[in-house]
Amino acid sequence: MPLVSQSEIVDLREMPPMEVIFGRSAKMALAHEKLERVAGTEVPVLIQGESGTGKEIMAKLLHVSSRRSNASWVKVTCQAIPLPLIESELFGYERGAFTGAHATKRGRVELAHEGTLFLDEVGSLDIAVQAKLLQLLQDGSFMRVGAQDARQVDTRLVTAARGDLREQVDAGSFRLDLYYRINAVTIDLPPLRHRIADLPMLVDYFFAMYAKELQQTPKPLSREMMRIMERYHWPGNIRQLENMVRNYVLIGSEDALVSEMVPSAQARLTTEIDLATPISLKAITRAATQDLEREIILRVLQANGWNRSKAAKWLKISYRSLLYKLQEFRIGGADGETKPEDTMLQSEPAGGMEEPAHS
Ligand SMILES: Nc1ncnc2c1ncn2[C@@H]1O[C@H](COP(=O)(O)OP(=O)(O)O)[C@@H](O)[C@H]1O
Ligand SMILES: [Mg+2]
Repeated sequence: MPLVSQSEIVDLREMPPMEVIFGRSAKMALAHEKLERVAGTEVPVLIQGESGTGKEIMAKLLHVSSRRSNASWVKVTCQAIPLPLIESELFGYERGAFTGAHATKRGRVELAHEGTLFLDEVGSLDIAVQAKLLQLLQDGSFMRVGAQDARQVDTRLVTAARGDLREQVDAGSFRLDLYYRINAVTIDLPPLRHRIADLPMLVDYFFAMYAKELQQTPKPLSREMMRIMERYHWPGNIRQLENMVRNYVLIGSEDALVSEMVPSAQARLTTEIDLATPISLKAITRAATQDLEREIILRVLQANGWNRSKAAKWLKISYRSLLYKLQEFRIGGADGETKPEDTMLQSEPAGGMEEPAHS
């Protein structure tokens, strides 16, 4: 992966359709509204959200909906660039500025002239570089490394941050004046776990996209898998979901998905305890047993094609107690339980959940 992507023309056809990008959650509707309001302006925009929530997609949308859309889109992933290099990457250098600077080189800022400069992970910029960026925002001027004179550039700055920049300001690693400049407008992207209603649509979108791209025709994901996905906390957000669906399409089995989403009971089955505070033996063993039960039940269910009566037999428990446990683990246990999202789920696999209860 190159450290800095070349300036490129953003092709809207390569982006997910707008309905997929924004879904139907209120938070995404707010992001959409803000984006439309500021796209045509020149104000700097700060996009905040956890990793994989779509910050880069938003930045690209801002670019394509601006009057700069025919000029270059330049992305710099600040975090990926080693500290001594970032200044010259961004602002360029003059010949002889340092050992090895045999020729003058234009920086990313210059390449983004008349276009959009997207600084991803802006929070990891060195404090000295932050000062130069502030100058650029104030009057459009900057200096190549080793230059005597300032240059002018006309670029729209869009930044992205994963963590809370305000905290970094308080900690002294981010300049307050720069902070005020870059977040004239802030677009906050919710984590996927806060927009779970959009999950089925996203799954369908990635499923179809990768089925086509990888020329595979896998079975739809089971209803139970969708339930597990709806209750998962998605630390990697949409990126993680996309990777998981892609793997499923490629491999055609739900095994890997289960192991990724169901935490290994091993992790909690430990005798490592904090001896500084009293503990509840009952609480610890109960939690450990539950983890173990949950993991084993999920694996057995999955190995039996989510057929509950087969799984119950295999586990040597009654069908009813299996249902009870599923309910306890919130894996779509109760027969009467329905959620609004249910209408969007795939139909049940044969032999799935329709068995009569017997004990
Ligand atoms: N709202 C969305 N709809 C569809 N795909 C999305 C959405 N948000 C992110 N993605 C996909 O998830 C991956 C990560 O998105 P990205 O914009 O790079 O996230 P971030 O910059 O916040 O880490 C990309 O492949 C992107 O296409
Ligand atoms: Mg990113």
